[in-house]
Amino acid sequence: MPKAFHNLFPLNPIGIFDSGIGGLTVAHAINKELPKEKIIYFGDTAHLPYGDKSADSIKYYSIRIAQLLLKKQCKLIVIACNTASALAYETVKDFVGEQALVVNVIDPVVEDVLLRNKLKRLGVIGTKGTVKSDIYATKINQGNPEIEVNSLATPLLVGMIEEGFFNNKISRTIIGDYLSKAKLKKIDLLILACTHFPLIKPEIEEYYKNKIEIVDSAQVVAKHVSKLLKKKNLLAKHKNPGHEFFVSDFTKSFEKSTKFFFRKKIRLEELGIWK
Ligand code: DGL
Repeated sequence: MPKAFHNLFPLNPIGIFDSGIGGLTVAHAINKELPKEKIIYFGDTAHLPYGDKSADSIKYYSIRIAQLLLKKQCKLIVIACNTASALAYETVKDFVGEQALVVNVIDPVVEDVLLRNKLKRLGVIGTKGTVKSDIYATKINQGNPEIEVNSLATPLLVGMIEEGFFNNKISRTIIGDYLSKAKLKKIDLLILACTHFPLIKPEIEEYYKNKIEIVDSAQVVAKHVSKLLKKKNLLAKHKNPGHEFFVSDFTKSFEKSTKFFFRKKIRLEELGIWK
């Protein structure tokens, strides 16, 4: 039986959070898949990047953000950050309990990857935190112990993308340097285990000359969210959803960069939950 206080009503919003604005790639995919849902986005720009922080810090930030999204009556909380999904998903889920649904960006990707036959060697690129957790290898090998999973931390990529360095000579050199590492040799598929990386997917595809499959979390997670809300009878039908986008530390440059991630200009508002 759900508790008396819960947000599980169809018209309530979907809450999405990330360390910054990278999770807007997931928000964009969810908006495309479910245009009648209202989205409340929170980017914890005051603590960006999460990739280098301790597990305890990530858990603390994630719980406080979940608390905020629950107050805003979100029926579903999407942890649109691989680092927070790897280090804080269980903690957030325990905290939220039956008040709302919680989705991370790792499980739907792992499920999707395991649907493929004949996978022998897989590559994963992500932040130091995600790679150190070894969560992709652990989960993929629970489903199929035969697959060899090689994870490589690519810490320069988040800052590079945030600064708008993609699709140019510099980004191609950095990406090429990471992808040429021995760990990623002879892979059949590469998982982009960071929600910033859909922006450099075309360059990664170009590097591999489209010979291997590149999987990113945005679309896979959007499809998962759609199925889950349908199954729980929680789909909304807003004509004018009126999304809201918040960050914990506002700068003009963040607002300017949002258009790369959400593919259109949006208005960012500061919600200083740490002040
Ligand atoms: N978007 C975050 C992720 O998916 C990475 C950015 C960060 O390090 O904060 O892991």
